[in-house]
Order: sequence, then C-alpha cells, then structure tokens
Amino acid sequence: MSEQRRTVVRGGNLVTPGGVVRGDLVLAGEKIESVVPGGLGEGELGGCETYDATGCWVFPGFIDAHTHMQCWTGMDWTADSFETGTRAAACGGTTTIVDYATQDRGMTLHQALDEWHKRADGTCTSNYAFHMAISDWNDHTREEIADMRDAGIVSFKSYFAYDHLRLDDAQTMELLEAIRPFDGILCVHCENGTLVDALQRRVLARGITGPEGHPLSRPAECEAEAIGRLMYLAQLTGARVNVVHLSTALGLEQIRAAKARGVRVSVETCPQYLLMDDTRYLEQGEDGFAGAKYVMSPPLRRPHDVEVLRQAVCDGEVDQVSTDHCSFNLHGQKDRGRGDFTKIPNGGPGVEHRPALMMTSFEGRLGPMDYLRLLSEGQARVFGMYPRKGALAAGSDADVCVWDPSVRWTIGASNQHQAVDYTPYEGFQAHGRAKYVFVNGTLAARDGEPTGEKPGRYVAR
Ligand code: URP
Ligand code: ZN
Ligand code: ZN
Repeated sequence: MSEQRRTVVRGGNLVTPGGVVRGDLVLAGEKIESVVPGGLGEGELGGCETYDATGCWVFPGFIDAHTHMQCWTGMDWTADSFETGTRAAACGGTTTIVDYATQDRGMTLHQALDEWHKRADGTCTSNYAFHMAISDWNDHTREEIADMRDAGIVSFKSYFAYDHLRLDDAQTMELLEAIRPFDGILCVHCENGTLVDALQRRVLARGITGPEGHPLSRPAECEAEAIGRLMYLAQLTGARVNVVHLSTALGLEQIRAAKARGVRVSVETCPQYLLMDDTRYLEQGEDGFAGAKYVMSPPLRRPHDVEVLRQAVCDGEVDQVSTDHCSFNLHGQKDRGRGDFTKIPNGGPGVEHRPALMMTSFEGRLGPMDYLRLLSEGQARVFGMYPRKGALAAGSDADVCVWDPSVRWTIGASNQHQAVDYTPYEGFQAHGRAKYVFVNGTLAARDGEPTGEKPGRYVAR
C-alpha cells in the first residue's frame, strides 16, 4: 500500500472545539491525523510537506450552507456555475457549500437531484452538499423523501414566497410531518408571497418602478408574519426548522417567542443584512440603476434592523452566517428590470467574501471561537456534518483554512473570482485573508488565488 501524503501546518493558532491552542496540525491524505499543541519536533517532520502558519488562525474550512449555483431562478440563470462558484468559495476560505437543489414543478425529487449532480460533479474546488428545495408537494414527492435521505440529504427547503416555488401552509405542514421521523430539518424562505405580490402591484401603480420599489414591496411585516406562521407549523408538528436569511428585528422577535415555547428553530443570517442597509437602493451609479445590485429577497433593511441583527449575532442568537449567494450580472441580467423592479432577478454574490466581511466588520466584538461557530461549526452541526466537518480534530476531514489576520486588502469586482460583473462590497477594506485553503487535504487556494486543483466532492450526510 502506498504511503499517505502527510502535510503539517506549522505554528498556527489552532481554533479547536476546546479553544485556541498554539501548535501544529497534521493532515494525512484526506483526513486530519492529529492536532499537536506545542508542535512537532524538527525530527518528526521527515517526508512531510510543511506550511508556515505563524501569526495565523487555523480554522476548520468554512461552510456556506446557503448557495444557489448554476440555477434557474424563474427569471434567469445565476451567473456562477458550480465550477466558478466553488473556486471563488475556496479562494475566500470556504471549503464546503450546501447548495439548494431545486425541484421545478412537474419534476420529481430524483430528477432534481440527478440534475444537480450533473451540474456539480467533477467541476468543484470546494466540497458540496445539497439541500432539496421542494416546490411540488404531492403523494409522489412524499414517497421520495425517504430516498432523498438515503442519498445523503437530511435538509429540505420550502418557500412562502415566489409564485413558481411556494407551498401553502397545509403543504408545509405535511412536509414537516414527513421529515420529522428522521429528524430532518426544513429551511424556509419566510416572506408572505401573496402580500408581496399585492404590494408590488401597488408600488408600481404609484409610479415607482426603480430598485427603490423593491424594499417598499417587501416590508418587515411580510417576513415577520411568515416567520411567525412557520413557528406555529413547527410547534404543531414538532419538526426542526431553520429560518434562512433572517433580515429584520421584527422577525427575530417571532423567533425569540417561539424559542420560549420550545420550538426547535435555528437561525441563519447573511453578511448583506449585517453590513448594508436600505439606503443602498438609492444608489445611482453611472446609469442611474446601481440600486439593482442590492435587489435580493428579503431586501436590505433599515439601520435599526442591521444593528439589532448585529447584536443578535454577538449574543449567540444566530446559529450560522451563510451568504445566499445567488449572483446575477448587473449588465445583461439585472438591467432587464429597468423600468419595472419586479423584473430584476433577485439575489447577489457573496460566497467568496463572507469570512473577510465577518472578521473585519466584527473586529473587536467577536473572536476566533465565534467565527468558528458562525462560519463553520454551526452549519456542520445544524446540517448533520459534525464533527466530520466544522472541527479541527483527529479523524475529521482535512478541510482547513489558514487565516492571516494581518493582511490588508480591498474587495472589488476586479480582483474577485466570482463570475459576476460587480460585488456589493466594492471598496471594502478587508482585514485578514485566507493564506492556505485545503480541501480534502489538497491545497486548493493560496493567498486568495486558486491553485487550479479541483478536490471538491459531494458530501452525503
Ligand atoms: O434574492 C434571493 N435571495 N434569491 C435567491 C433565492 C432565495 O430567496 O433564497
Ligand atoms: Zn430565500
Ligand atoms: Zn436562497
């Protein structure tokens, strides 16, 4: 049998489940062999490839549990494929994405899953798992749930908004009942879709057609009402739910009340709701349409919501910060909604920049153990990957991000790897960058640039 390749990450501050310890991390093949506080002796390094992590934090690879790669979203295809999206992810320190495989109406779950494998397999730099998003709830779909679990999918998604995707309340209840026996989890897009439709018509009727109409048509109440409804459906069925992309203080109040009643709910928010507010919709840019960059659902919120959510992140009320990466070019895609904001494809990019955005903007408020929880361990625990992922521990997968907090750099469209013509974070002065990123023991990115390797694999859970 051939000897396994051994790699030693030397002298870093290892962010382990038990705390931060200075030492070495030994990778053997695709697994972490050992965490060595104090480090190995020089005599123990024979034959190993070594990487210097002095002054760096060494994290388990970051996990982004909310992406939409290479996906038809009802208006257009997303700009990033699995190939470009996972490469960008790895450049930023993310070693696993959990993407939303999405069933179109009339399609079976098997067909959706096959299609997502066809798009992703063999092309990925970071690892990838799938949630299964269900838009067509019927007896056949119900029967397929068990097959999905056997195929490694323990998390599902449904929508309360978007005409082509949403389930009604009874269907959502039945879906929750179907996943309850194996403790599956349902991620839900919480916005009241019929209200949004009506408000869009009203806003357009008032003559507001630009991107500034988007937040007016999706007020905080639309999110909070849908979250409240989901909380009662979860209470009724006893199933686990995950509120995705929480964006409002009002929605958080619903979650707090539900938690007090014993509802099994976890919470995700995204950098866009922690770093930007709804004044962005007024941005003009060169052609008066720059506000379209921020058309995503839910929309960016008021400064008060941003502050409340930031505090909730610091107080441990948020389990995961993922991105909802759903990229569309401003030119050629989003600008098709000029003159009618309801036709601007919803979504924005972020998979590459999440770790830098979080660690910069929470500097002084959060530390490495918080980043571990919010960017990796939380996702691994909630979505059934822990401790295989989300932990620097012997036996865990060799997904590692060596983070150099001393690097200063500027985020911009010109230096990003996301295949999209803008970033909402243009000009953001980032503190810290991924120095080395290993995916299944292979160096996938160095100093924010890809190595060209594609070690990413499907993660069955
Ligand atoms: O605007 C967004 N977020 N688009 C992606 C789909 C979703 O709602 O998560
Ligand atoms: Zn959503
Ligand atoms: Zn999404």
